[in-house]
Amino acid sequence: MSLHIGAENGEIADRVLLPGDPLRAEWIAKKFLKDPICYSRIRNMFGFTGSFRGQRVSIQGSGMGAPSISLYLHELFVDYNVQIAIRVGTCGAIQESLRPRDLILAITASTDSAINRRALNGLDLAPNADFGLLSCAVTEAKQRGLSHVVGGVASMDLFYDTTDALDRFKEYGVLGLEMETSALYSLALRHRRRALSILTVSDQILTGEKLSAEDRENSLADMAELALMTAISA
Ligand code: HPA
Repeated sequence: MSLHIGAENGEIADRVLLPGDPLRAEWIAKKFLKDPICYSRIRNMFGFTGSFRGQRVSIQGSGMGAPSISLYLHELFVDYNVQIAIRVGTCGAIQESLRPRDLILAITASTDSAINRRALNGLDLAPNADFGLLSCAVTEAKQRGLSHVVGGVASMDLFYDTTDALDRFKEYGVLGLEMETSALYSLALRHRRRALSILTVSDQILTGEKLSAEDRENSLADMAELALMTAISA
């Protein structure tokens, strides 16, 4: 048992999906996994293991932001030896070409966070997705006819940001803002594990357009299935 995840050794699969919201973890596990069991309820940050198309997969809530996802990832990688981590989340689009419900397959993540600069003693890391997972997700998204784009996102420390960071990242072609991918890719690189972020555009920040309640559920299902297919094929 680790500090924040109450699973026994062997209860977590070597492939894990990470939604930010623990209730989404439960929703995905109950909708897509065969015989899901809940292995942790610590802080209500639920985690489930079951099987998808005959392969063991876990779904673990990550919470919001780099500090939260970092502690769960540390324990998944170090204490439970997880090999593949796929974030399924939402983001706000900052390029005109993107519409709510589009998928962003994040190839890299910029950030305003100081975590990596501290870890690398002032150097800038360019944290990247695992190419095998990314290429698998692209193939699956094409086959399923899902509207998707591959590009960079920015992982922000503040949802309610008061700076001009959005304009700067927009100028440099960043597709969307969220809060976790930089931490996911950086920790995966350090621990030599494979990671990918699959993000649904929930808001078009430039126009204020938002995903409808109905589309929210449908898009989560599409994204979860794409992530599960990627997790078991890679
Ligand atoms: N900022 C950060 N994270 C987000 C946003 C945003 O605008 N939208 C969805 N997740």
